[in-house]
Amino acid sequence: MADSRQNNPILVVHGPNLNMLGQREPDHYGRRTLADINRSIQSRADELNLRVSTFQSNHEGEIVDAIQKAVGQVQGLIINPAAYTHTSVAIRDAVLILDVPTIEVHLSNIHKRESFRHRSFIADIATAQISGLGASGYLFALEALARMIA
Ligand code: DQA
Repeated sequence: MADSRQNNPILVVHGPNLNMLGQREPDHYGRRTLADINRSIQSRADELNLRVSTFQSNHEGEIVDAIQKAVGQVQGLIINPAAYTHTSVAIRDAVLILDVPTIEVHLSNIHKRESFRHRSFIADIATAQISGLGASGYLFALEALARMIA
């Protein structure tokens, strides 16, 4: 019998500087490393019978490539575009091409911070935005997607 985790694949994309979590501005982003957060994502995905792959890049084009590669391969996207949230039409367009339920996640509450962080190029095309709940935001996003695509 097929492993049910082969169903409902989800892509999780982490944008620039999120590889520095743990050392980077802990007052905003906490002390957990990206590897630690990815482990929590993987274990929650296992509980939800979702197959998850995680990807991090500091480069806009690599993020676009990763999203394009996922076309037709995934049923949901969780994306923290990090600084590209506020600048990237290219990532927005790639998310539109992917055309699956998409949850935008931010560790910090971008709306409580500098005004340049209030604008998101993803928010109006995403299914939802989770901002300010730390690493738990990724887990809530997984739970939401599990309900949506079950
Ligand atoms: C972030 C918020 C962005 O403004 C910032 O550039 C990041 C991380 C967050 O997770 O809170 O790198 O996306």
